[in-house]
Amino acid sequence: MLRVVAPPPWKIKVVESISLRSEAERRSALEGAGFNTFLLRSDDVFIDLLTDSGTSALSQEQRAAMELGDESYAGSRSFFRLEQSARDAYGFAQIIPTHQGRGAEHLLAKVLVQPGQLVPSNLYFTTSREHVELAGGVWVDVSIPEASQPESSHPFKGNIDLTKLERVLSAAAPERVAFVRIEACLNMAGGQPFSLENLAGVRALTLAHDVPLILDATRISENALFVKERESGFADRSLPELIRTIADLADGAVFSSKKDHFVPIGGLLALNDAGLAQRVRELLVVYEGFLHYGGLAGHDMEALAVGIRESTDEAIVRHYVSQALFLGERLLERGVPIVVPVGAHGVFLDAKRFLPHVPQQEFPAQALAAALYLAGGVRSMERGIVSGQHGDEPYDGLELVRLTIPRRVYTEEHLAYVADVVADVHERRAEVGGLRMTYRPEHLRFFQARFEPLAPLLGHHRSPVEANALD
Ligand code: F0G
Repeated sequence: MLRVVAPPPWKIKVVESISLRSEAERRSALEGAGFNTFLLRSDDVFIDLLTDSGTSALSQEQRAAMELGDESYAGSRSFFRLEQSARDAYGFAQIIPTHQGRGAEHLLAKVLVQPGQLVPSNLYFTTSREHVELAGGVWVDVSIPEASQPESSHPFKGNIDLTKLERVLSAAAPERVAFVRIEACLNMAGGQPFSLENLAGVRALTLAHDVPLILDATRISENALFVKERESGFADRSLPELIRTIADLADGAVFSSKKDHFVPIGGLLALNDAGLAQRVRELLVVYEGFLHYGGLAGHDMEALAVGIRESTDEAIVRHYVSQALFLGERLLERGVPIVVPVGAHGVFLDAKRFLPHVPQQEFPAQALAAALYLAGGVRSMERGIVSGQHGDEPYDGLELVRLTIPRRVYTEEHLAYVADVVADVHERRAEVGGLRMTYRPEHLRFFQARFEPLAPLLGHHRSPVEANALD
């Protein structure tokens, strides 16, 4: 198990003020946001655990590098520095910058997916699946069953079920499979890693069936750390070596750089096949920008080039992963149901066990996220039926609330406060009822859907901070 072995390998130079709105202001903000935490203004949020995407703190080295941004439209020095940094860390020959991860997913789906083709993957990610489906592809879940079992302590819930994958690949002619996708530290299952042994098994199957293997490498650093910690035989390998070993097993990779690379914006599509990369670049200039910036400013690419190097630094990665464990352990001690083992980038509350009285059709995770905000100004994200269900198909998948930890941003005191708020809502869970969806967007509905509570949400309540100030 990962422990907090050392204080953070950084100290704070610049700070941003935050404050807790009153209970009445929070209630009004929540109503204005249609009980969707995405629609809150950040000024109304105290501790923002919505996402680890683009929310990390830059290092002074990244800030300094930004001054060197070359904003030339074509042939930018900053692009070549980025290309070198990404090649050094991951080894892919072809590095294509995009404005963020979904830009890379879009281009990849456009060049690799034909209507009717399959994309087997461990579980799903929202934007990854959407782009495949918009290109006419068919998403096939080949995750292991433990991925969808919050109480299973399987150390590698991000693994692909090799028997399932073999069955899918054998049943389909190779040309009916666009690519196999494997995601590092599987976000929707709770930030759960795959093992290197499993990845090697997936690699062998894709080679045998002659289909490309694409890695979603957005959280590759944490996955490499978990391999070092949990998989026998890798304890003595360095983090950069393990990251490279993972990347070497794939034909290409999609990165949302807004996570592991500590930048507010940016993404990469990395490939080995020059012909495929050329087809992508033809579309890059249509959808993202010229080859040497792909939707990013020169200074963004400079920050990214440095961020990639920092993302292979074990002390940095170990510290932020241990922060998730710190929060998770505090919640477990207080009997709060969470996904175990605690994953890479946050703690995931199991809303089905947290609010057993709320049926899944009444959006328990959405309601719980709303309640956490109301109770203490803590913003989290629904990762359940609102995110996972497409239309009206029957759905009984995971129902989670993600408390995501931005990297290098919050201290243990902030996280201890979050644990107090969550434990408080857990004690008063009977006061949290279900919701009704009043606006249902057609695509990625979780971002903009609006809701109304079916019963009043949490009666009058003072947050732990207010109580301390007043008592
Ligand atoms: N893949 C994974 C595994 C992701 O977690 C994300 C984004 C993307 C792709 C898309 O990248 O946002 O840069 O376009 N995840 C964010 C989150 C939004 O909150 O988990 P993007």
